[in-house]
Order: sequence, then structure tokens, then C-alpha cells
Amino acid sequence: MKAIIQDRYGPPDVLTLGDIDPPTVGNDDVLVRVRAASVNFGDWAILRGRPVVLRLATGLRRPKSLVPGVDVAGVVEAVGADVATIRPGDEVFGRTSGSFAEYAVSASTRLAPKPANLTFEQAAAVPLAATTALQGLRDQGRLEAGQRVLVIGASGGVGSFAIQIAKAYKAEVTGVCSARNVELVRSIGADEVIDYAGDGINGQRFDLIFQVAGTSSPLALRRALTPTGTLVLSSGRGRLAGIDRIVTARVASAFVAQRLEVFLEHESAADLFVLKELIESGQITPAIDRTYPLRDAAEAVRYVEAGHTSGKVVITV
Ligand SMILES: NC(=O)c1ccc[n+]([C@@H]2O[C@H](COP(=O)([O-])OP(=O)(O)OC[C@H]3O[C@@H](n4cnc5c(N)ncnc54)[C@H](OP(=O)(O)O)[C@@H]3O)[C@@H](O)[C@H]2O)c1
Repeated sequence: MKAIIQDRYGPPDVLTLGDIDPPTVGNDDVLVRVRAASVNFGDWAILRGRPVVLRLATGLRRPKSLVPGVDVAGVVEAVGADVATIRPGDEVFGRTSGSFAEYAVSASTRLAPKPANLTFEQAAAVPLAATTALQGLRDQGRLEAGQRVLVIGASGGVGSFAIQIAKAYKAEVTGVCSARNVELVRSIGADEVIDYAGDGINGQRFDLIFQVAGTSSPLALRRALTPTGTLVLSSGRGRLAGIDRIVTARVASAFVAQRLEVFLEHESAADLFVLKELIESGQITPAIDRTYPLRDAAEAVRYVEAGHTSGKVVITV
């Protein structure tokens, strides 16, 4: 099968289109004929092997996974002997390892039926970014109806889902983005939009701040929280991949009344079903910035790495 291959760490140029054997299907596995994959922050972080400590998990000398890509949408080609819930021909979306390829294999528990009202391209945009937004707001942020929520990075892959999810949970939502993305952020439901080059937050207070972009210090953001508010840090951008902000939040949280939380998404099949419902009820629609054919995956990863996407970037197979 055709696949994008990452056989060493480096810039997106190290990605090549090649021919490899399709993955083998274990008893609990599902083989998906990939129709679309999406590009995430993690794809270029793994490709670069940065920060270096990441290599303890992703492979010391070269990436353990030969094919990049963790989000997938496609049609089931075959299932393992013990899979009862999914059948060949089903349209699915979810998580895998190696979706920048014609075929990808996943444990059946990592997939869910594709939302009926989405194209494969839209469905592939959902799994990691929307789960991050959902868990960051609902679980780590303990989001409640009526709260004032600020999403910093509202125009990015995660942020564009966060705005819609916060609205679905009946919050009053303000998005922070650049001037060129103000219309996008308004169109996906933000009640108010702040251009980060302008006057800024200007004395406003929020019950929950979800930081998915920018490098503002937790101490600066704390000043925009209500006395019992919560800051959820999810941005891995910056010189030290956000480690400085994580340390600051951890230390400062011992001394302040507000919650300063560092957040890591975890894969959840249940949350794929929650997202499917929110999508099918019309409360979330993925914002797609660009799509690239499989052979241009390196270009897609380079574009995401630059950090200026307006919504998600999708690879079509
Ligand atoms: N914690 C977790 O488990 C987890 C999981 C997934 C992702 N993440 C993190 O989530 C972050 C967001 O990822 P992403 O894919 O959504 O996109 P991203 O590439 O990090 O952010 C892109 C968006 O942020 C905007 N932006 C840049 N600087 C900004 C600022 N100072 N204020 C507000 N907006 C700004 C950009 O718009 P302009 O170019 O117009 O400025 C662009 O629309 C990443 O840093 C990643 O580490 C965390």
C-alpha cells in the first residue's frame, strides 16, 4: 500500500511517500481503508523528536511508528475474529497509529461510527482535537452552564472545537485570535472575540480560561480569572514546549485560591460517542482550513507546524 514514511527524526522533508505492506489485523483489530486523516500538533513534534525527552516514548534513535497520523476516518475493510461490534463496509472515525496511508489498523475500541452528517474529511478532523477540547473544558475545567469562558487560540484546531463545545454546554464564550480570524471565531459561535494584537482582555474576569495557543504566563492569565476561577493550560508552543508554564502553574497553584491546571488529553472511546452526538445534533461542525492529498503530507505537516491554521488540516487518501 502507499504510505507516508518517517524513518528518522527531522523536519517535514524527511517524510516520503513509499510502498509498504498493509498492517496485519489482530483478533481485536479493525482494518480501515483510510479516506482521510488529520494533522495534529503531535505529528510534527514526534517527527522532530522535540522536546528530546519525548523520544523516551516515541523511540530513542528513530520514530517507533513508521507511518505518522493518529486521526482516521474511513471504511472498514476487514475485522479480527473477536470483533463483534464493527463489520466490513461500516464507515468509522477515531484513533489509530499510522493514518497517513491507504490502510490503517486500530483496536475496535478506538473507533466509532462516523457521524452521519459529516464527510470523511470532516470526520477525520475530529478525534484528537475535539477530544482535547472536550476533556479540557468539561473534565479539567469542570465547565458549567452560564460560566464565562475564555478560549485563547480560538481559531486553531483545538480552539475551534473548544468554542463550539463551550457553547454546547451553555457557557458565555469569548475567543482570543488574530484579526484575520475574528469572523471565523464569531461564525462558530463565540459571543465575543478579542484580537490578541489589540487591547487584550481589558479588566474582564472569567470563570474558566482554556489556553490552547500563545505563550502568556499562568501568572498573567490568573489576573483574568474570577477569585475561584480555573485556568487550563494546554498549549505546547514556546521555547521550552510549554514546560516553563507548566512548572510555573504547578508551583503557583499551591499559593492561590484559583485552580491552575495542566492538562493532557487521554484517548477515550466514550468521548468519541459524546462528540458524535454533539455533531449529529448540529452543535459542532469541524472547521477545515485546508486539505492536502496524501503525497503532499509533508507540506501539510509543515503548514501545521508553522502555527497559523484556521481550523483543522486534513489529508485525503
Ligand atoms: N494537552 C493536550 O493533551 C493537547 C492535545 C492536543 C493539542 N494540544 C496543544 O494544543 C495546542 C493547540 O493546537 P492546535 O492544533 O489547535 O493549534 P496551533 O497550531 O497550536 O494554534 C493555531 C492557532 O493559534 C492561533 N494563535 C497563535 N498565537 C496566538 C495567540 N497568542 N493568541 C491566540 N491565538 C493564537 C493561530 O492564529 P494566528 O496565526 O492568526 O495567530 C492559529 O489559528 C498545541 O500547542 C498543542 O500542544 C494539547
